[in-house]
Amino acid sequence: MQQAEAVREIERLRAELRHHNHLYYVLDDPQVPDSDYDLLFQRLRQLEAQFPALVTPDSPTQRVGGEAVPAFATIRHEVPMLSLDNVFSADEFAEFDRRVRDRLGDMLGQGGDLLGPPDIDYCCEPKLDGLAISLVYENGVLARAATRGDGLTGEDITHNVRTIKSVPLCLEGSQRPPLLEVRGEVVMPKAGFLRLNEQAAARGDKIFANPRNAAAGSLRQLDPRIAAQRPLEFYAYALVRSDGLAPAPTQSGMLRQLGGLGFRISPEIRTGRGCPFVMDFYRDIQVRRDGLPYEIDGVVIKVDAVRWQQELGFVSRAPRWATAFKFPAQEALTVLRAVEFQVGRTGALTPVARLEPVAVGGVRVSNATLHNFDEIERMDVRVGDSVVIYRAGDVIPKIVRVLPERRPAGTVPLPLPTQCPVCGSDIERPEDEAIARCSGGLFCPAQQKEALKHFVSRRALDIEGLGDKWIDQLVEMALIKTSADLFCLRKEDLLPLERMGDKLADNLLRAVDRSRQTTLPRFLYALGIREVGEATALNIARHFGTLDAIMVADEAAFMQVVDVGPVVAESIATFFRQPHNREVIERLRDCGVTWPDLEAHGQREQPLAGQTWVLTGSLSTLSRDQAKEKLLHLGAKVSGSVSKKTHCVVAGEAAGSKLADAEKLGVPLMDEAAFINLLSSHGL
Ligand code: IVH
Repeated sequence: MQQAEAVREIERLRAELRHHNHLYYVLDDPQVPDSDYDLLFQRLRQLEAQFPALVTPDSPTQRVGGEAVPAFATIRHEVPMLSLDNVFSADEFAEFDRRVRDRLGDMLGQGGDLLGPPDIDYCCEPKLDGLAISLVYENGVLARAATRGDGLTGEDITHNVRTIKSVPLCLEGSQRPPLLEVRGEVVMPKAGFLRLNEQAAARGDKIFANPRNAAAGSLRQLDPRIAAQRPLEFYAYALVRSDGLAPAPTQSGMLRQLGGLGFRISPEIRTGRGCPFVMDFYRDIQVRRDGLPYEIDGVVIKVDAVRWQQELGFVSRAPRWATAFKFPAQEALTVLRAVEFQVGRTGALTPVARLEPVAVGGVRVSNATLHNFDEIERMDVRVGDSVVIYRAGDVIPKIVRVLPERRPAGTVPLPLPTQCPVCGSDIERPEDEAIARCSGGLFCPAQQKEALKHFVSRRALDIEGLGDKWIDQLVEMALIKTSADLFCLRKEDLLPLERMGDKLADNLLRAVDRSRQTTLPRFLYALGIREVGEATALNIARHFGTLDAIMVADEAAFMQVVDVGPVVAESIATFFRQPHNREVIERLRDCGVTWPDLEAHGQREQPLAGQTWVLTGSLSTLSRDQAKEKLLHLGAKVSGSVSKKTHCVVAGEAAGSKLADAEKLGVPLMDEAAFINLLSSHGL
């Protein structure tokens, strides 16, 4: 391809990718499947590799995280980054409103002397609990990003901010203003935060205390590849400099302007008149707070008219025209009374802190999680310690800090149990793992209960009404041990249970009966195989089609399944090798648990089965290992040397003797572009 043609093609691809990025990350409204996006992205990457001179910093390919920086440079804020005053109650907010109206006084005009100045229009925004940052755009392209720092100078975090998908690298729309400065908050959504901590806990890494710390920690990395893997989002709330754009007359208008430029704006923002409107907004958000995808610590109330804002001005470091209206704190200080250990479905022991009850954010808390043993050791938390607990939404509260200066005399480090507190089996804790497990397996009643609760849960066999309290009783009365026992329950087994009635028993038995007809993905998920969540269960089911095919597969065969790596493959293969598990599965089938078989995608989509392929030279869009894995997916064998039997040689850049061998033997050759096409035509 000629350079001129490449320029046009690259521009077209970038525009299209930006458009889809915006739909996906800013508007939450994707309009093409991910695979289409990936294809465009790959094509752009390929062209840019071919024409490196055409790579620009605002290209969508430049988000993935470039080189690490040696240290943070400082950036001076042209317009200082201020903070906000706080109010904590309706009365305090009414005082704020009174001050605003008094100051504006006569300017507000026809207020009526007796009634005082008329009501103010306020722009009401959620106060996102993250990190304030400033973004500078030059000629429409992101040039710099900085932390707030001390308000006058911050740290240059451009390398990390570029990796946040909701930060446009290039402004939307036809305008290219010479200079624009946007401020807003970087947050880590709750779901991403929980996942990050789960992974950290499993690896024995440090747990982040809350999403704000996690967001701050992510932005404070020298290596942008770390930030690129963190689920961060950016919400804009202010446009502080905009050469070449007509200024909006109101805060709400400015937010719309920011939306038009391609920024994500919180959908919760409302504008309305006077204290009653603000109070309604505050209460409404407070009620819905737990359900929001990110954490907020209050709302921010801003005088909407920019004219009035200018009139009101600033006092020391905060505007007079805005205030934070905060929610009650989410941290509290209390005392650790005891630590107990809970045994989960896979035997994992979770330390649970029993606390002196304390109110946090309006909820009484008496238990908190300590995640795992490493966390206990790291904090050296002891019974009797004063601890800071953190609670957000419906998440389990956790201990985030110990206050050693308040430690009473005579405390001892917490002993880690050597025996399961439920069944007495030995506790195993592999050297390199943070997780300790009960070795009792399904002999351990705690594991039995948890495995059964999982089996009947909504996304598994979905046995309606068979809640935890029934499972607990059924196991304690030795009426059931494994999932297969559920299908042998009779009415006379159920009736003696506490709080069980005639009708309830009938309903439960009917629900058990109904659940016999299920689907293969649900059944696989219900088995509770370690590392096999819903998505993996679905991939396995689609790949093999039938349970019989799954039960005879080995590790290598499981590795062929989409998104299954060696750890998961081993876990699945080990599960199906256990005679005990096979027996339970047979009994379940004997009890009439059944599902329609699926079409086995694994078999059907192995278009290269029986073929031997060779890779040589380097590919610009894939590593050698990735290319090999994809060929294996398609059923090919990948060999290191070329022979007459080789079906095809994929020749990348700087291919050497293997290319010559292929030519000599007349083996078909494929260049990178054709290879990528082949892969994408099979959805890889
Ligand atoms: S406006 C001059 N709006 O709250 C006004 N701040 O306590 C500057 N924050 O540093 C801030 N959501 O990190 C504003 N919708 C919002 C906000 C918000 C969160 C944070 C921001 C600021 C802190 C002040």
